[in-house]
Amino acid sequence: MMPDFGDRYNLPASRTDHDRLRMLCEIHDPHTHELLRQAGLGAGHKFLEMGCGLGYISRWAATQASHVTALDLSEEHLAEAGRMGQAAGLCNIEWRQANIYDHGLSEETFDYTYSRWILVHLNRPVDAMRKLLGLLKPGGLMVCEEPVVDSAYSEPPTEGYDRHPQLVHGLSATRKVDYSGGRRLHTWAAEAGFEIVDVRAYQPHYLSGPHKGFWSWTVEAAGPSLLADGVLTQEDLQKVLSAMRVADGDPNVMVAGYRNHQLIARKPR
Ligand SMILES: C[S@@+](CC[C@H](N)C(=O)[O-])C[C@H]1O[C@@H](n2cnc3c(N)ncnc32)[C@H](O)[C@@H]1O
Repeated sequence: MMPDFGDRYNLPASRTDHDRLRMLCEIHDPHTHELLRQAGLGAGHKFLEMGCGLGYISRWAATQASHVTALDLSEEHLAEAGRMGQAAGLCNIEWRQANIYDHGLSEETFDYTYSRWILVHLNRPVDAMRKLLGLLKPGGLMVCEEPVVDSAYSEPPTEGYDRHPQLVHGLSATRKVDYSGGRRLHTWAAEAGFEIVDVRAYQPHYLSGPHKGFWSWTVEAAGPSLLADGVLTQEDLQKVLSAMRVADGDPNVMVAGYRNHQLIARKPR
C-alpha cells in the first residue's frame, strides 16, 4: 500500500536542525527573492508555500503579496516560524500543519505556489505537483527550487566529497526518492500538466567561511537515516564526515554545494 504521504522525511526537527535550516536560508534566500520577483510576485497576490520549514520565505513573501498560506508537516518548525512571524508583526500569514498530499485547502485559490527542497524528499513528486496544480487559479504560477544533491564536490578532489554521491545514491535507492531530482523539475511539471515558463540553476562555491560546512553538516544530520538503511557503517560514516570536515577547514580546497535548480511553470488557462 502507498504510504499516506510520499516520504519518510529523514532530517529530524531537532534544535540543531533548526540551525541548519537557518543556514540553508542564509545561503539561498537572496536567490529565491530574486526568482519570485522575476516571477512577478507582488501586491494583490495570494501565495502558498508548501514545506515552509522555518518560514523565512513565507515571511518575506508576506511583505510582497497580500496573503500567504504556509504549510508544513512539522509542528515544531511551524511553531518557530509563527513565533518569528508574530515578532515581525506580520498578520497576513496563515500557518498550517498538513501534508502536501492531503492539505485541506480549497482548489483554484492561489496566484502563486512556492516550494523549496521538499519534492526530492517525496516518493511521488509528480503527484505533489498535481496537488499544486489544483490549488492554483488558471494562469497561476508554480515556482519550485530543488537541489541536485549528488552534485557536491571539492577541488582538489578529496576522499570525503568523492564519496558523497555514493551516499546520496544509496539513500535515494532505499528511500525510493530522487535526491538529485532538481534536474528533473521541468519534466515532473510537464507530466503534472503545467506549461514550463523558465528553468535555471546555480551552484554555491566556497574556499572559506561558515557556509562551507553546510554540506558535511547535512550528511551528519542524515547520519541516522544512512545507518538505519544500511547505506554505510558507523565507522565509515565517521570516516566520510571527518574527511569532509578536513576539506571544509582547508582554505586551499574549494567546496561546491548542491546545484540548485529553479523552475517557473504555469497552470494552463
Ligand atoms: C529541507 S526542509 C526545507 C524547508 C524550507 N522549504 C526551506 O527551504 O527553508 C523540508 C521541509 O519540508 C517539510 N516536509 C517534508 N515532507 C513534507 C510533506 N509530505 N508535506 C509537507 N511538508 C513536508 C519538512 O517538515 C521540512 O520543513
